[in-house]
Amino acid sequence: MVLLSWVISYLIGSISFSYLIAKKVAGIDIRSHGSGNAGATNTLRVLGKGPGIAVLILDALKGLAAMGITHLITGDPTAYAVSGLFAIAGHNWPIFFGFRGGKGIATTLGVALGFSPLAFLIGAVLAVILIAVTRYVSLGSLVLVTVLPIAVYVLDKPIAFFWTSLILAVFAYVRHYNNIRNLFAGTERKLGDKSHRKL
Ligand code: G3P
Repeated sequence: MVLLSWVISYLIGSISFSYLIAKKVAGIDIRSHGSGNAGATNTLRVLGKGPGIAVLILDALKGLAAMGITHLITGDPTAYAVSGLFAIAGHNWPIFFGFRGGKGIATTLGVALGFSPLAFLIGAVLAVILIAVTRYVSLGSLVLVTVLPIAVYVLDKPIAFFWTSLILAVFAYVRHYNNIRNLFAGTERKLGDKSHRKL
């Protein structure tokens, strides 16, 4: 049953809302525009606030739904923490879309909410402040995933939540390899940057 819930979680994560919404709204493959990432930030960049926010919420719900379903099936904190990882893996490497997905941050937000609303809030508020100040979404995303394991640990949540949030931080750092390189080179796209305007 645990394995089944993890497969379901991966399949839920594999629903690429940025791909689907960009196809529906503008008839484009989001992966051929902007940063080329199938995620909320790139949808916002290419298609604007409405589609961007819709993708953010729907992608976050994938993480929460995966954990909720696994919780219902197994009732085991380790199992549903790991199911969050499967949802993020599905988002990053979606079986329905040629394994070319996003960077997992919106889905991580949903998983963080499943771990602890307070840890979610701490990570999200810090990320939003950093994004507002620097306009680098990637920097905010990396701060979010770095703060999450610390917050989960300090708040004394189940140890499985700590280990899974560490692993999801590794996922995020790997997926943000190009963003990190661009940040150091000073070439990272800023939110609202005119040179990457909407369609
Ligand atoms: O959540 C993804 C974000 O951190 C970076 O996205 O499109 O700027 O590479 P993007």
